[in-house]
Amino acid sequence: MKLFDVYPLNNIAITKALGAYVWDDKGVQYLDMYGGHAVISIGHTHPHWVKRIEEQLEKIAFYSNSIIIPLQQQLADKLATVSGKNDFQLFLCNSGAEANENALKLASFHTGRKKILAFNKGFHGRTSLAVAATDNPSIVAPVNQTDHVDFLPFNDETALNAYFQSKGNDLAAVIIEGIQGVGGINIASDSFLRLIRNLCNQYGVVFIADSVQCGYGRSGQFFAHDVDGVQADIYSMAKGMGNGFPIGGILIAPHIQPKHFMLGTTFGGNHLACAAALAVLEVMEKEELMQNTKRIGDYLMSELSKIEAIENIRGKGLMIGFDVPEHLKGLKKKLLDDYRVFTGEAKPNVIRLLPSLALNQQQADAFLTALKKSIAELQENKSI
Ligand SMILES: Cc1ncc(COP(=O)(O)O)c(C=O)c1O
Repeated sequence: MKLFDVYPLNNIAITKALGAYVWDDKGVQYLDMYGGHAVISIGHTHPHWVKRIEEQLEKIAFYSNSIIIPLQQQLADKLATVSGKNDFQLFLCNSGAEANENALKLASFHTGRKKILAFNKGFHGRTSLAVAATDNPSIVAPVNQTDHVDFLPFNDETALNAYFQSKGNDLAAVIIEGIQGVGGINIASDSFLRLIRNLCNQYGVVFIADSVQCGYGRSGQFFAHDVDGVQADIYSMAKGMGNGFPIGGILIAPHIQPKHFMLGTTFGGNHLACAAALAVLEVMEKEELMQNTKRIGDYLMSELSKIEAIENIRGKGLMIGFDVPEHLKGLKKKLLDDYRVFTGEAKPNVIRLLPSLALNQQQADAFLTALKKSIAELQENKSI
């Protein structure tokens, strides 16, 4: 049987991983500055995470949400401590798209309204409503097309004010990434987030903070949206939450009330996934990974800004992007092929760095050296 060919692949089979490194089937070591697409939060196969999952596996891996799963409450309690959202409620699911799908659906249940506001270059996942709120027509199937979703330019306060004045009373939710990931590392301005908060308050609209990529400590704070005076009504989470074990969830403000059966999932919140997610938070706390993220992120930003050949260095914590000029367009491939460094990208010309939050200075320096050498070699070839 053939695999359904939807992913353009690098011709590399990864068979082993530890911390910030992965190894292929020939034993070649790679530095992972991509984190498997922002998923590796505490480092590949962290021993505490492995132990927690193994121990849980010996006891019970899964039972349905028809019984009490104490690990879910333990996870909620730990999340309250680490995120500071003590009075929020937790609903668990399996992926980022599912988290956003549930967030949008819940906003509609709560307000009784149908309209959703999203932003240009935003990415929220591939399920029906999440993809309808994603600004990429090529992944929206005809059946997903809907008049319920409107798009505005990112960070455009005038357009936002005007939109609310005309449609604010029909709006169920505004959904926004604190830092756009797939869109190319674009940071929502503090004043834009504050304006969303104020307008949502004024018109009774649910503010959904898509934190699937920029959340869970990646920006150096737990949620990138939480600038001064801003708290969202729903935060969606996935990626870093399980360090590679599939789990997602939404944190829901106390004024949004649950009703039996309004949301649900078979696998969400299973024993094994909760054990993995608890291990992640335990390591984040113990190893002070948010502080590390800020420190190493600031260091990378400052060192990257000294490299003249790359442009528009931007980001927060360990979510960093820069533009690659046309004459260096082979940079990502060169880093991988010649220097064994995985990086991410965003179309058309952005390199994205999304490494583990445990990346250390030595690994950051190894990346910077590889980057500088790659740039020099590409420039040399150009001038020959
Ligand atoms: C901001 C954001 N939201 C949602 C998603 C969808 O997550 P998943 O692929 O787990 O469904 C992604 C995935 O890249 C994302 O970056």
